[in-house]
Amino acid sequence: MAKKSVLARLDEAVDDFCRRTRYFHEDMTRGRARIFVMQHRMNTRQRNSVLKLKVAANCPDWDTRIEIIKACSQEVIADHAHGGGRAHWEILEDLGSRIGLKRSEIRAARPLRSTQIAWAAWEGLMANRHWLEGIVANTCAERANVPGYGTGIMKKRGWFGLERERWGKLFHLSGDELEFFELHETADIEHSDMGWRAVERFAKKLNIEDAVVAACEKNLDVWELYLNGIGAAGDRLGVR
Ligand SMILES: [Fe+2]
Repeated sequence: MAKKSVLARLDEAVDDFCRRTRYFHEDMTRGRARIFVMQHRMNTRQRNSVLKLKVAANCPDWDTRIEIIKACSQEVIADHAHGGGRAHWEILEDLGSRIGLKRSEIRAARPLRSTQIAWAAWEGLMANRHWLEGIVANTCAERANVPGYGTGIMKKRGWFGLERERWGKLFHLSGDELEFFELHETADIEHSDMGWRAVERFAKKLNIEDAVVAACEKNLDVWELYLNGIGAAGDRLGVR
């Protein structure tokens, strides 16, 4: 039997992540949504202004390096392609204000212990690593926003397609009010394609296929911990 391609193995890891992560399968609640806004705003800033840039700094392929920096800049500085010139964390603040959070409250939030553990783990998986393992770390969770992984709505429309559906129902929001999720359905296809393409081009040549697949699995384990941490903290708020 022919050996599976490295991209097929990465896709399997993402599919497994989508199927097993409790946060995707348990009900969305008001408490969970509030904690998501506060944690994910910080997480986006940390990942895109610190962690992903370490990967860029290690990347010897100039075009890929510039693409990483461009993607980070859309996330933390300004996204003119999908976000009308706002950074993604600003768009997430707008979403938070629509579900009853004050901007000052969102900005005063502290990272949960699970979030802090995730950042420490990602530091180990993204800094001082082979850049191709880093590229997979940068893009493996964004990959879950591409349709085709997991089951049900997630398989049809991706992770943020699922969030759009359940946040829409829970908070009676629609269309533009849920733009944070909607814009990622496009942005994350582009961002994660960049990562998957780099793996396709370089992993075999550099004889690093197994390490890249292992990196993908580990990074997604950390994402699972991060998201389930948000779920648990949301439940502690006790608002359904
Ligand atoms: Fe984003």
